[in-house]
Parts: sequence; structure tokens; C-alpha cells
Amino acid sequence: MLAHSLSLGALALASVASAQTPNVSLLIDNPFYYDLTRSLNVRSLLPFVSARKGAAFHWGSTYSPPSTAETNWTSEVFLTYFAHMRAENLCNGFPIRCGALRNFPHNTFWHNQLPAWLPGNVTAYDLVHNVIPLHVGTEIKALGWNVTSWDVTNELISDTATYNMTSWECVQNADRWPTVTYDGGSTPLVTNLSFAYATWQTALMSASPETRLSYNDYSTGAQDAKTECVFKLIADLNANASIPYNRMAVGFQSHVGAQPGYFVPKAELEITFARLAALGVESMVTEMDLWIQANDTVNQRYQAAIWGDYLDACLYASNCYEFINWDNRDDTSWILPGDGHGVAIATLFDMYGNPKPVTYEIMARFARYAEGAAEMCATALGTESCTVY
Ligand SMILES: *[C@@H]1O[C@H](CO)[C@@H](O)[C@H](O)[C@H]1NC(C)=O
Ligand SMILES: *[C@@H]1O[C@H](CO)[C@@H](O)[C@H](O)[C@H]1NC(C)=O
Ligand SMILES: *[C@@H]1O[C@H](CO)[C@@H](O)[C@H](O)[C@H]1NC(C)=O
Ligand SMILES: *[C@@H]1O[C@H](CO)[C@@H](O)[C@H](O)[C@H]1NC(C)=O
Ligand SMILES: *[C@@H]1O[C@H](CO)[C@@H](O)[C@H](O)[C@H]1NC(C)=O
Ligand SMILES: *[C@@H]1O[C@H](CO)[C@@H](O)[C@H](O)[C@H]1NC(C)=O
Ligand SMILES: *[C@@H]1O[C@H](CO)[C@@H](O)[C@H](O)[C@H]1NC(C)=O
Ligand SMILES: *[C@@H]1O[C@H](CO)[C@@H](O)[C@H](O)[C@H]1NC(C)=O
Repeated sequence: MLAHSLSLGALALASVASAQTPNVSLLIDNPFYYDLTRSLNVRSLLPFVSARKGAAFHWGSTYSPPSTAETNWTSEVFLTYFAHMRAENLCNGFPIRCGALRNFPHNTFWHNQLPAWLPGNVTAYDLVHNVIPLHVGTEIKALGWNVTSWDVTNELISDTATYNMTSWECVQNADRWPTVTYDGGSTPLVTNLSFAYATWQTALMSASPETRLSYNDYSTGAQDAKTECVFKLIADLNANASIPYNRMAVGFQSHVGAQPGYFVPKAELEITFARLAALGVESMVTEMDLWIQANDTVNQRYQAAIWGDYLDACLYASNCYEFINWDNRDDTSWILPGDGHGVAIATLFDMYGNPKPVTYEIMARFARYAEGAAEMCATALGTESCTVY
């Protein structure tokens, strides 16, 4: 999520919609479905969720070793609320999800901000035939076969994508990947998707056959041009790099905001997930957090509704087995006060590590799914549109 602070910041400034936040209907309002005194042990429900899904459901969060007294809090949360870890370079017993080719710099020439593993002066031929296969192959093999999914390529597609772009145009315009010259000159280093083919083919050869290989991006999932580019890209990888659809996943980062236009409505997510399912491609929510506009009850409830709807979209989809939260507490979130993301409240636990309406709502959604209940309406639409029975 290297690029998010820039991309989401720009997004936040681009439009200042001030629609009134709807007071939504939540599952936790209904004591039949959720008793607030119940523990927050989501983990205990996961075997039932997986049983209904027919395959292991990976519900997790990011983990970076805390340096303070938070260590115990984090361990406790991982032992009860989450069950799956998202990390770049860590393996400590949890099933994990990792990123292979994530660390390209955003919006900069190579010589300004090289990923640590990338040699400074490299030809396109070397990049595609030597550097990428060596780096990606080594990294994937080093983490072994416990990784449930790899972000094979992350954030390739431009925010200015338009309909009818070719897959190459979708990527070329991102102005971020090695489609620009390494030395700031005018000659592009890579002029086609050969670098992506090399990455995916290496990942396919190096990872366990059980591991899903994911294309991961932000601001995707709706019926829009950027998401259309995702479909173009995976079709290209399938056709030109022989990556089977049944090994692929598309990861939807889902750094979203509780404001119309800043999250993907459940109905649109469902259309996108179903379209991937028809290809045999898995859908994943990979980096979910949700900033709110004000820290009042109505906004906290709206956060719970949208989060719950994202979770339901995944739970009730036939191809979604992985859902990862991003950052555990408001005081350790990458979304900071004053950075343009409404109020800096985006995670599932507040700045003291206490649960919020959203924390309980997620527990309730899991409980409801685990007990076999049918899918309900999208609560994020508001009480007028959806009452939870
Ligand atoms: C919002 O809805 C809940 C549940 O229906 C209700 O208890 C609460 O009073 C409402 N709040 C406002 C501000 O309307
Ligand atoms: C964390 O837990 C361990 C083991 O229960 C305990 O010994 C230690 O004092 C705790 N640390 C803090 C900072 O609470
Ligand atoms: C990169 O390597 C080429 C060939 O070895 C050399 O001509 C060129 O000066 C180098 N460029 C930089 C920026 O080091
Ligand atoms: C993979 O998981 C198994 C069983 O949980 C564990 O024994 C093993 O150490 C793990 N391997 C790595 C490389 O983490
Ligand atoms: C352009 O994109 C639109 C929207 O996806 C689609 O309906 C149309 O068929 C596309 N046209 C071409 C020539 O691909
Ligand atoms: C990609 O472009 C390079 C030149 O930059 C060329 O040598 C190579 O054949 C192209 N690969 C594909 C798959 O088109
Ligand atoms: C495969 O690559 C060629 C050459 O870049 C391109 O024209 C074609 O559209 C690609 N196939 C798909 C399915 O994207
Ligand atoms: C938001 O409000 C809740 C109480 O509803 C409080 O626990 C939490 O600390 C507040 N967060 C911030 C950042 O003020």
C-alpha cells in the first residue's frame, strides 16, 4: 500500500461531497442475531464459516511486531479476533499472505527510490530475464509453502484508466512501474508487459500449487474503468503468459471511506466478484480499512454497515476465501490525523484498543453466516432501504 497515502489523499481532495450520513440499520441492533455481551471471539466461528464455504476461510489482519506494551494486546487480538496474518517478511505460525513484487516506487524514476533489491542500472532485458525471476523466485521459495496467497503484482493500473484501453495502456499510464526510464531520460525501459509476464511465470513456478496468485490494487471493485482494466490485465496474463485462471485471484485493497463515492456498494462488489468467479478467479479483500467523517454514533454505525457489507459480499460470494483487515488500532493506522481522510479513525479498534460498533457488527455478520442464514440486504444503504430483521 505504498501508494495509498498519495492516491487516496488526492482522491479525498478531489471531491468534497458533504452528503448527510444515513443512520443505518445494523445486525447488532437485533438481539436475536447478536448479543453485545457475547465475546468477540471471531476465531471460534471460523471453522463453521469454512464448513459452509467448503474451504478454509482466511480472516486476518496486518501484523508488524509492536515495539511497546501493545505487544500483549496484539497477541490477544490475533488469538481471538483474527486468525490469519498479512506480512511482508514474517512467518510465525499463522497462515500468511505475502507480497512478491510490491516495492516498486510510486510515481518516481527508479534512481530516486529504488526498492532495496533492485540494482540501480539495469537493462530491460536484464530486468525481465534475470532480476525479476531471481528476486521473485527467491522471495517466494524463502517463505515456503505456508503462504495462502501472494500479491504477485500490486498496483499496476493507472488511476486515470479509461474504458477501452488495452491492458498495456492501463499499465503504461500508471507512470509508476518500470515503464519509465531508470535515469530520468526519455527512453522507457520496459515497453510492454514482459515484466509482468516474467513475474507471474516465476510465481507460478515457485509457489505451492495451493497458493493463490493475486493481482492486487486499490480503488477497484466497482463497475468502472479501472476495474475493467483489471479484467483486461488478467485476460492478458492468461492468454500471453499462460497463467491459468484457476490459480489467479484479484485482491481488492479496499482502503475506503464512509462517504458515497468512497466505497464500493455491495451490489457492485457482488457483480465484480461473480464475474471473476465465472472465470475461475478468486476474489479477495486484502487491505480493508474505512475512515469516517466524524466520530459520532451515526458515522460509527455507517462504518459498521459498510464494513459488514464488504464482509458479506465476500462471505456470500462463491469465490472469496480471504479477507484481510489493514492495521489493528486507530493509533497505529497508516491513516493519520489531518491527512485528508475525514477523521483519522479507520480501524476496528480505537486508540486505546477498545472495540467499536464495527468490531461487534463483524462478529455478528460472521455469526449469522456461520449459522447458515441467507444473505441480507445492503445495510449501508440506510434504514429506509434495508432493515435488518
Ligand atoms: C439510529 O438508528 C438506531 C437503530 O434504529 C436508533 O436506535 C438510533 O436512535 C438512531 N439514531 C439517530 C440519531 O437517529
Ligand atoms: C505481557 O504478557 C507477559 C506474559 O503474560 C507478561 O509477563 C508481561 O508482563 C506482559 N507485558 C506487558 C507490557 O503487559
Ligand atoms: C548504466 O550502464 C551502462 C552500460 O554499462 C552505462 O553506459 C551507463 O552509463 C550506466 N548508467 C548509469 C546511470 O550508471
Ligand atoms: C508451515 O506450517 C507448518 C505447520 O503449521 C509448520 O510446522 C512449518 O514450520 C511452517 N513452515 C514455515 C516455513 O513457516
Ligand atoms: C468500450 O468499453 C465499453 C464499456 O466497457 C464496452 O461496452 C465497449 O464494447 C468497448 N468497445 C470496444 C471497441 O472494446
Ligand atoms: C517487449 O519489449 C521488448 C523490447 O523492450 C522486446 O524485446 C520483447 O520482445 C517484447 N516482448 C513481448 C512479449 O512483446
Ligand atoms: C496478448 O498480447 C498481445 C500483444 O501485446 C495483445 O495484443 C493481446 O491483446 C494480448 N491478449 C490479451 C487477451 O490481452
Ligand atoms: C471516538 O469515539 C469513541 C467513543 O464513541 C472513543 O472511544 C474513541 O476514542 C474516539 N476516537 C477518537 C480518535 O477520538
